[in-house]
Formats: sequence, C-alpha cells, structure tokens
Amino acid sequence: AFHQHPENIHLSSAGFFGKFDREQVQRGFQVYKEVCAACHSLKYVAFRDLQKIGYSEAEVKAIANQWVIEQPSVNPETGEVATRKNLPSDHFPSPFANEVAARAANNNALPPDLSLMTKAREDGSNYVHALLMGYRDQPAELLREFPDAKTPDGLHYNPYFANLNIAMPPPITSDGQVTYTDGTKATKDQMARDVAAFLTWTAEPNLEARHAAGVAAIIFLLIFVYLTWGAYQNVWRNVK
Ligand code: HEM
Repeated sequence: AFHQHPENIHLSSAGFFGKFDREQVQRGFQVYKEVCAACHSLKYVAFRDLQKIGYSEAEVKAIANQWVIEQPSVNPETGEVATRKNLPSDHFPSPFANEVAARAANNNALPPDLSLMTKAREDGSNYVHALLMGYRDQPAELLREFPDAKTPDGLHYNPYFANLNIAMPPPITSDGQVTYTDGTKATKDQMARDVAAFLTWTAEPNLEARHAAGVAAIIFLLIFVYLTWGAYQNVWRNVK
C-alpha cells in the first residue's frame, strides 16, 4: 500500500512513431557522466556509440580520453595490474575493481550496471525518473502501522523502490548540479528526466529503426489489404 507507481514522463521516444530527442539524450549523458558514473557502469555501451546520439568522432575521442574511471590493464610481461586511458572502443567502465570492492563502498549493496535498466524494471523509463525524484521521509502512517519497518541506517526510504528502502543515496540533490552545455535549466526534475531518456537510449539504441520497420510493415499490410479486396471483387464479379 505504501509502494507507488511512476508518473508518465512522456519521453519523445515513447509510442508508435517515437524518436529520441537527441538534445535531451545528450543532456542525460552529461548527468550520467557527472553523477551516476561514480558508481554505475554501462557495460553494453561503448564510447563510440555516442556518435549515434550526435557526438562527433573527435568529441568521442576526447570524452574517452578524459574519462575519470580508467580501464584496468595487466602488463602481459610482468603481470603488473595498472590502468590505462579509455579508447572509443572501450565500454563505460565500473569504478569498482570487482563486486567485493563495490559492495564495500556501498553499504554491502551492489550498484547494478545501468545499460539495460529501463528494460529490466517494469515501466523502466518512467521508473528511473520516479526513483530519482522519489526520496522522502517515511510516512508517519507507515511507522504507526508497522513500527518495525523503520528504514535501517545506511538505507533510504523511497516508495518507488520495490522494497521501499534503497541502498543508493539520493544522487540528484540540488538544482544546477550539472551545468548543461545547451543552456537548459538543470532543475532536479529536468536532470532526472534527461538521464531517464539517456538510459532509454542505452537500453534500446535501435528503437528508431524498429519503429520505422513497424510503420513500413503496417503500410505494406494496408496495400495488401487493398489488393486482396480488389481480387475478391474480381473473382466474385459474375456471381449474384
Ligand atoms: C541502484 C540509477 C547514481 C549507488 C540503482 C538503480 C538505478 C540507479 C535505476 C536500480 C534500482 C533497482 O534495483 O530497481 C542511478 C542513476 C544515478 C545513480 C540514474 C545518477 C543520476 C548512483 C550513485 C551511487 C549509486 C552516485 C553511489 C554513491 C547505487 C547502489 C544501488 C543503486 C548501491 C543498489 C541499491 C540497492 O540494491 O538497494 N541506481 N544511480 N547510484 N545505485 Fe544508483
């Protein structure tokens, strides 16, 4: 009864003819880069994939080269473990060396890879936005009904999270947390929407091609219906 369902954020990519809003997806990438990437990887997305949302090859090279989290690399001669800068062909790395290190840094919870998150959760695009905006105090009513359900230390109450208490601290905390290069005002709600749009793209970069194929298939079928109807008229034209 205390769990809540996400509000619809009406992304331009939703629906039959939906297309990504490139500028919004780029803003969402900026939020991922400056906020989420401190804990979450995108293991199915390569830096060079950013060209599909409008970055040039040179920009992609620079983004990869300046990425704060570097790639682990092992010297084949000495076995020495070090890091190296990212290349456009690398995928967005996790900041943690392994699961043990990740859990140690996060109160024993594991920050999941976000590549497919908007598909992994029901109503995922809306869910990401709702989750980010959903942090609040526990309702007094809940504590009255279930005094033992007090949010434990180190967890955070969020009515959009399946079990109401999430280990992720609120990542989006203040307006202007990122400075958008396109001049859009970075309110908390705007950043949450934009990163939801970006994660919708990471989970289905070929969405536009799928929508286009769907529309083409419907047009084909309409023509086919017309031809079938014509054939029917022709075959039965002498029968009363
Ligand atoms: C979990 C998104 C930033 C740590 C999650 C989940 C999402 C998410 C969608 C999965 C929730 C679920 O399982 O349904 C984001 C976004 C961020 C962000 C979009 C940036 C705006 C961060 C940061 C940290 C962090 C900066 C670390 C300080 C975690 C942890 C979990 C988690 C530990 C696992 C929570 C649990 O299982 O209780 N995040 N996150 N996240 N995130 Fe983040």
